[in-house]
Amino acid sequence: MELEKGFLQKKIDPALDLFEEINYLKKKKNAVILAHYYQDADIQDIADYIGDSLGLAQEAQKTSSEIILFAGVHFMAETAKILNPNKKVLIPDLKAGCSLADSCPPDRFAAFKKDHPDHIVITYINCTAEIKALSDIICTSSNAVHIVESLAKDQKIIFAPDKNLGAYINKKTGRNMVLWDGSCMVHEIFSLEKLTKLKIQNPNAEIIAHPECESNILELADFIGSTTALLNYTKRSTSKEFIVLTETGILHQMQKSCPDKTFIPAPPNNNCACNDCPHMKLNTLEKIYIALKYEQPELIMDEKLLNEAKKPILKMLELSAKFGL
Ligand code: 13P
Ligand code: SF4
Repeated sequence: MELEKGFLQKKIDPALDLFEEINYLKKKKNAVILAHYYQDADIQDIADYIGDSLGLAQEAQKTSSEIILFAGVHFMAETAKILNPNKKVLIPDLKAGCSLADSCPPDRFAAFKKDHPDHIVITYINCTAEIKALSDIICTSSNAVHIVESLAKDQKIIFAPDKNLGAYINKKTGRNMVLWDGSCMVHEIFSLEKLTKLKIQNPNAEIIAHPECESNILELADFIGSTTALLNYTKRSTSKEFIVLTETGILHQMQKSCPDKTFIPAPPNNNCACNDCPHMKLNTLEKIYIALKYEQPELIMDEKLLNEAKKPILKMLELSAKFGL
C-alpha cells in the first residue's frame, strides 16, 4: 500500500484507544507483535510475545501469523524476516538501530576474517545481515557459552562484535577467542563508582548484570545472564532487592512477576538516573498503530543476502534445541 506523504507526522486522534485499535488490527490482519524486554511498558503489555533475542528468534521461527510486527531494533526484525522470507515484517521505526551492530562494518570484518583464516566465526545476533552472512554460527547471550563449549577445545574462534560478551565467554570457558572490538553503548556506560555507592546504600541487594557489561562491573555481580536469565533469576532468588545492570525496560517484567521485591536500576556514567537504549525507545504505541494500519514501514531484504544470513541462524536454533534452550 502506498502511504500518503508525511503519514508519520499525521496526528492520531487523541480520542482513539490505541490498545483497542492495535488489538483490532492484529486480529483483522492476522498479525503478531513480538517485543523485546527493552521496550516501553505499554508496548510490552500489548505484545503477543515478550522475550530476549533468542526467545524472539525462536518465536519468529514458529509463528503462523501472516504479519510480524517487531517491536525491537533493526537486527531483530531482520532475523525475523530471514526466518520468514514470505511473511510481511513490520518495524515501527526503521531508524531503530544498534550501536553494537554499527560497530562491525562488513568490509572491515571481512578483512579481519581474512587475517584469521583457520578460525570459525561465532557472531552475536546483534549484528547486520551482512555480518551474519560472513559467520558460521550465530549466538545470543542465552546460548553463547553452550555454543562455544560445543566446539573442540583446540578450535580457533573469532567472536564478534561484542568484546565484553566475548571476554566473559573466554573467562567462563577458558578459551582464547579472538575478539572483535565492538560494544553496546547501553551496557558499557555503567559507573563502577555509582554502583559501589548504590551497593553500600543497599547492602542486601543482589547485583545482577548482563554479560554485555564491562568486566570490572561483572566482577561485582552476584549473577550474570541474558535478559531472560536475569528475569528468571529474580523470580527464584530469595533476595528481596536487586540492583539491575541492563536496560531498564526489563524492570517492568521483574516488577510484574515479583511485586513484593525491589528492583533498582543501576545508574550510568552520565546525568541520567537510568539506562535506556535510545534505539529501542524509538518505538511507541503510536508508531505501532500506524505500522499495523498502513502495513509500513516494511522490512525488505535482498534474497541472496537473506539466504546467506539464514544458515548460521538456523545452526544456532538447531544447537539451542539440542541444548534444551
Ligand atoms: P539479550 O536479548 O540476548 O538479553 O540481549 C540484550 C540486548 O542487548 C539486546 O539488544
Ligand atoms: Fe544494541 Fe545495546 Fe541497544 Fe541492545 S541495548 S539494541 S545491544 S545498543
